[in-house]
Parts: sequence; structure tokens; C-alpha cells
Amino acid sequence: MKEILHELEVRRERARMGGGQGRIDAQHKRGKLTARERIDVFLDEGSFEEFDMFVEHRSTDFGMEKSKIAGDGVVTGWGTVNGRTVFVFAKDFTVFGGSLSETHAQKIMKVQDMALKNRAPIIGLYDAGGARIQEGVAALGGYAEVFQRNVLASGVIPQISVIMGPCAGGDVYSPAMTDFIFMVRDTSYMFVTGPDVVKTVTNETVTSEELGGASVHTTKSSIADGAYDNDVDALLQVRRLIDFLPQSNTAPVPEIECFQPVDDVDESLDTLVPANANKPYDIKELILKTVDEGDFFEIQESFAKNIVCGFGRIEGSTVGFVANQPMVLAGVLDSDASRKAARFVRFCDCFGIPVVTFVDVPGFLPGTAQEYGGLIKHGAKLLFAFAEATVPKVTVITRKAYGGAYDVMASKHLRGDFNYAWPTAQIAVMGAKGAVEIIFRKDIADPEKIAEHTKMYEDRFLSPFVAAERGYIDEVIMPHSTRKRIARALRLLRNKDLQNPWKKHDNIPL
Ligand code: HXC
Repeated sequence: MKEILHELEVRRERARMGGGQGRIDAQHKRGKLTARERIDVFLDEGSFEEFDMFVEHRSTDFGMEKSKIAGDGVVTGWGTVNGRTVFVFAKDFTVFGGSLSETHAQKIMKVQDMALKNRAPIIGLYDAGGARIQEGVAALGGYAEVFQRNVLASGVIPQISVIMGPCAGGDVYSPAMTDFIFMVRDTSYMFVTGPDVVKTVTNETVTSEELGGASVHTTKSSIADGAYDNDVDALLQVRRLIDFLPQSNTAPVPEIECFQPVDDVDESLDTLVPANANKPYDIKELILKTVDEGDFFEIQESFAKNIVCGFGRIEGSTVGFVANQPMVLAGVLDSDASRKAARFVRFCDCFGIPVVTFVDVPGFLPGTAQEYGGLIKHGAKLLFAFAEATVPKVTVITRKAYGGAYDVMASKHLRGDFNYAWPTAQIAVMGAKGAVEIIFRKDIADPEKIAEHTKMYEDRFLSPFVAAERGYIDEVIMPHSTRKRIARALRLLRNKDLQNPWKKHDNIPL
């Protein structure tokens, strides 16, 4: 009996060694943790239960029958993050470069199925070279089955991908269909085909970093939602994100104890908006002074910085924030900002997370670059996302809300539940200069008349009161009371019940 028990330990120990000490050392030398070390950092201590530790591939081509490694390049199972269940799989780069075989795919599918059935988030830790080349179509089929499950789980349970090494082929397409992707700076790369294939096909010489490093995907392509300096930091930040997310689309948003009373007023907000309407200010200051204890998890911090998106809490419950950022391009809406915010709003709506929108937007960005790049369609994405969202929507206009961007930014007309404005709000078709130059073109050569028209326009339209007279603004509020007003609104909206007409799915302009 003792021997049988001992054999289990021996087999387990062998499986834990993955591709062997040499490859583990190489992994460490590159500044990366192994798959199992990553899971240890990520999950609550002692909570990991592993599945399929002894699974091996069944390939016999290219002499593969002689090299079988228990686990077959992926560690799968479940555990907890701050006490809440999550499913996890971690690609083991030390085993065939973490590449995906038929059996490796089956292991991932098993945890995908369990996560969906049991309505818990699933997190993939990627460090892998795509389809196992020796398995051919069996590996391709495996990927397609993983992709299919990604799609079926989308909008039902949160799916998060952490890219922690070189990733190619299916190991970037599966993450691309999940809700969030995070990368590790200097050690992780994402590309459909690596630099060697690029060189062969296009004769372009690029490094892995130039082709698909964290800086590319967080600032240029917007594939990644954030990047961190090392494995440990990335895993701890993803734990932090999970604390904000509900378990599924039918579970309530998590609620934790709030240590900051919402009645505290912050007088400094009364002077946040500068007297000069063309002077910028940092909208993040308002976000940080609105959320509980200044705890804000920003999404895509380095991309389209003219809009800020992220999660915070009010009275302990998760809220998604979308805010124009006057510090960057005066907070204008362009294609990138629209796509970024649209995806964020849709995530919140999928998972019942209320959306708070801070508006200071001079309009959509004009010009050929934007128009040729499809601004109409990208801008429409954000309009579509806000309009279809049925979660509680609270909007605060702090300064400019001009033109179509006024409509788009969770206006009353798009079923905004509480639409507030600060006294400094300016709600109009456009700013005074542009408006006067169009409607009083005949007086353009007369500076005195132009000044008179401008003053008249500013007095009449550049305030919140025309909109408030029509009920488009529910109330003009003092800046210092913003947190309290939003908290009261969200409290009231806890029982909000609003449904869109039945449809198979919508047809958002992609
Ligand atoms: C089998 C693989 C492998 C793969 C790597 N290895 N990728 N084995 N199938 N796809 C093995 C290597 O042979 C090596 O084994 C070990 O993993 C480490 O790989 P290295 O190349 O030494 O590491 P590195 O220099 O860091 O380069 C990592 C890499 C590179 C960038 C991932 O290995 C690479 O380009 N791999 C191929 C990527 C690719 O084209 N995959 C197919 C994509 S198609 P030893 O024994 O020497 O340690 C695909 C289709 C899906 O995925 C469908 C999408 C829609």
C-alpha cells in the first residue's frame, strides 16, 4: 500500500518538473516564473486544485511517441482569489514551448466548460508558441474548439488573459476573444506570425519587441489593456481586477466594506474647472475623489488617453467610469477613444456594472485622417454602446458637451438615469467662436459686432440651464457634492429594471 501511495508522489513530482530543470532554469534566466509558480502567486495560498496532471499527448508523428511529458504543456484547475472561485490554466513553456496539442486543448476545454457551467471567471496565463507543429490539423481543431468556448462564454463569465512570454498563432487569437489582456514588459510578445515569418513573407526586419511587445500593444494596437514590469506584479494586479468583477452575468457586483463616508464633501472640486474654458484640467482628479478610498483600476491607460475608462467602487460596489480627459487633445472623441470606451461600456453592460460618465468634450475630431479611418463607424460604436446599455447610467457634465458628442456621452436621450451638470457646464452645438463665425458670417470683418454676438451666444448657450430648462439635465449640482449625488443615484438605481426588445443579437457597427 505504502508503495502505491509513494508512486503517486513520484508521478506528481515528475509532472511538476515539466520540461526539466534545464528548461526551468532557462525560464528563470529570462526573468519569467514557471506555470506552477505563476499559479501559486495568482491564487490564494493552498487553494489550487489541479486537474489532468497526468495527461499526455497521443501523437506518433516525428518521433513524438518517444517524448511524452505528463501534463502536456498546460497546468489547469481551479482555486480562489480573495476567497472567490476562479478557473485557471497556465501554459508551460518548458514543455514543447507550451504549444497546443489535441490533449492539451482538451485540458483547456475542460476548465472552460467547468467555468461556464459553474459561472466563475476563467483566467489564462499564456507563454506559448501556438499550435503544436508536429500534430498538424489535430492541434488546429483543438484551437477552434477552445475559440468556440471563448465565444460562448463571452458576456456570461469574465475571461481574462495574461501574456507572460512569446505568444503566437492560437495563443494570441484565444486571448483576443477574452474580455481583458494584460502583458509583462520586456518578456512577453503577441503576434500572429513571428519575426522570422515576417522576414520571409514581407522582407521586413523587426524584433519581437517591435512586432508585438507590450509597448506596441498598449500604445499602438490597443490589443492589450495594460502592461506590468514583471510576472508577480502582473498577477497581483489581475487579482486586484478580479476583486472588482462579478462572477458572471447573473451574479451581483461584488460589494466590500467602504471606509469613506459618501457625505464627506470635497471643496477642492469647486475649483477643478479653470475659469478659462480652454485651459485643461485632469479628469482623473475627479475620478479619484469620487471613488471609495481613491482606488481606481484603469483600463488601457496608455491608449487613447483622451478618454479614461476603469473600475472603482462607490459605497463598496463596483462602478465603471468613462470620462473625457481634457488634458489630452482637449478630451475630443476620435476613433480610438470611441472604440476604447465602447468596448468598456459593453463589458460593464454585459456584467451588470453601473456606468458613471464624466463629460467634458469639445466634439468629434475633424479631419481627413479621422474620416478616412472610419470615424463615423467608430464613433457610432460608442453611441451604440451607451444607447443599448441597460445598466444604471449616471452622467455628470463638468464643462463642455458639444454637438454629437453631447448626445453620445450617455445623454438623457440615450436613457441616462441621472444626468447632472456642474454650474460650469456648457451644453451647445459648438463653442462660441465656431458658432458665431457660421451664423454671423456677414459680420466677420467687424470685430466689435463679432464680440457682441459672441457674448450673446455665451450668455445664452454656454451654460447648463438651456438643457436644464428642457429636463435634459435632471439637476445642476455643486461640484463638491458629486460623490454624494452619484452614490444616492446609484443606491436608488439598485432595483432598476430595463430590458431591450428580444433579439438574437444586435448588429453593432464593427
Ligand atoms: C512545437 C514548439 C512550438 C510549436 C515552440 N516549440 N513552438 N514545438 N510546436 N508551435 C518548441 C521549440 O521547438 C523549443 O523546443 C521550445 O518550444 C522553445 O522554443 P524556442 O524557439 O527555443 O524559444 P524562443 O526562441 O523563445 O521562441 C519562442 C517562439 C518560437 C517565438 C514561440 O518558438 C516560435 O516562433 N514558435 C513557432 C510559432 C508558430 O508559428 N506557431 C504556430 C502558429 S499557427 P526545445 O525542445 O528546443 O526546447 C497556430 C494556428 C492556430 O497557432 C489558429 C489561429 C487562428
